Amino acid sequence: MIDLQRVRADTPGVAFVAHLNNAGSSLPPRQVHDAVVDHLQREAEIGGYEAARERRDRWEHTYDALARLLNAGRDEIAVIENATRAWDMAFYAFPFAPGDRILTGRAEYASNWIALKQVTDRTGARIDVVPDDEHGQIDVAALASMLDDDVKLVSLVHVPTQSGLVNPAAEVGRVTREAGVPLLLDACQSAGQLPLDVDELGCDILSGTGRKFLRGPRGTGFLYVRRGLIEKLEPPLLDMRAADWQPDGTYTIRSDARRFENWETYYAGKIGLGVAVDYALEIGIDSIRARIVELAEKLRAALREIDGVTLLDRGAVLAATVTFTVDGVSPDEVQQRLEQRGVNVSTMDASSAQLDYGPRGIAEAVRSSVHYYNDDSDLDRLVEGVKEITWTRSPA
Ligand SMILES: Cc1ncc(COP(=O)(O)O)c(C=O)c1O
Repeated sequence: MIDLQRVRADTPGVAFVAHLNNAGSSLPPRQVHDAVVDHLQREAEIGGYEAARERRDRWEHTYDALARLLNAGRDEIAVIENATRAWDMAFYAFPFAPGDRILTGRAEYASNWIALKQVTDRTGARIDVVPDDEHGQIDVAALASMLDDDVKLVSLVHVPTQSGLVNPAAEVGRVTREAGVPLLLDACQSAGQLPLDVDELGCDILSGTGRKFLRGPRGTGFLYVRRGLIEKLEPPLLDMRAADWQPDGTYTIRSDARRFENWETYYAGKIGLGVAVDYALEIGIDSIRARIVELAEKLRAALREIDGVTLLDRGAVLAATVTFTVDGVSPDEVQQRLEQRGVNVSTMDASSAQLDYGPRGIAEAVRSSVHYYNDDSDLDRLVEGVKEITWTRSPA
């Protein structure tokens, strides 16, 4: 059980807004905020390099915290400025050739797809999209039947940006592991809301971000690469953090996952990310998941009752994100009118989710997303706001 009073007392933002845009960026706990501000203060006092040296144990701890979160080794972790770059640094390291195939699912994220397309256009490799099953999640049996010697990578989004779906990542991992094909798991939306054990998930690479369900600072992300794969992947970009310049003009690339990092980094954010992970682990990811599922179900049930509201989420398992449309009112207008009432949600359009929204004829949607620190009054404010919007919409 989560001590709601305590976590809300730790979250100054709840006094200002009903924040239901956690899939965008969560309200951080004050512990995270304080750690970031404290490091920035120290940088101002003694200098940036000096502060990083003095507090080395604090930013080094972030690798241990992430390793614990993922059940990984600290040498398998890189801290990178966001989930997209983390994903890119691993993906662009694969040497694809004509005839190679990359499998992805309908939940694929826009930036990942753009990278897949750029690389396949350049190399003559091909993207094949695995269909969804009848629940709207990736069809694991279809995926298994599509695997052959030409498949060099499977890219899977665990929880998409545009819906509450939770893809069956561990089942996919079992299939890819059996086939000996690397699985690149985008855990950007799942990190901090679902348990992530890289062994149970069977993934070889995992990317995540700090600011969403982990409640870390913006501008922070991370990458996990399985030990045996690290030295097989030459990062697409190298600098003097990733490699050492040798007297003979050559360079040697470091052997741990920090080969995917770059030299200059946001130390305050890195420390804050570690504090955020510690905070989540202390609450317990299983408790977080249970509370999120409870709140999201409550919200779905309440929205379902409102005439003119259509819920869009599909999947055998659903998590924090609740997407919907309101007949006759654009998602942008819904978002703005909720904002006027102190309720934060966001909007999604098909350009963020072509493989999902496109075939379903969804042009855009309102995206609300709960976190464990939300309470019933936050949900009520959203539901009341949506009701009011439906009463005042113009007749069709
Ligand atoms: C599923 C998914 N993958 C990747 C990303 C990109 O994360 P970042 O903005 O940290 O690069 C997002 C962001 O919304 C996302 O939802």
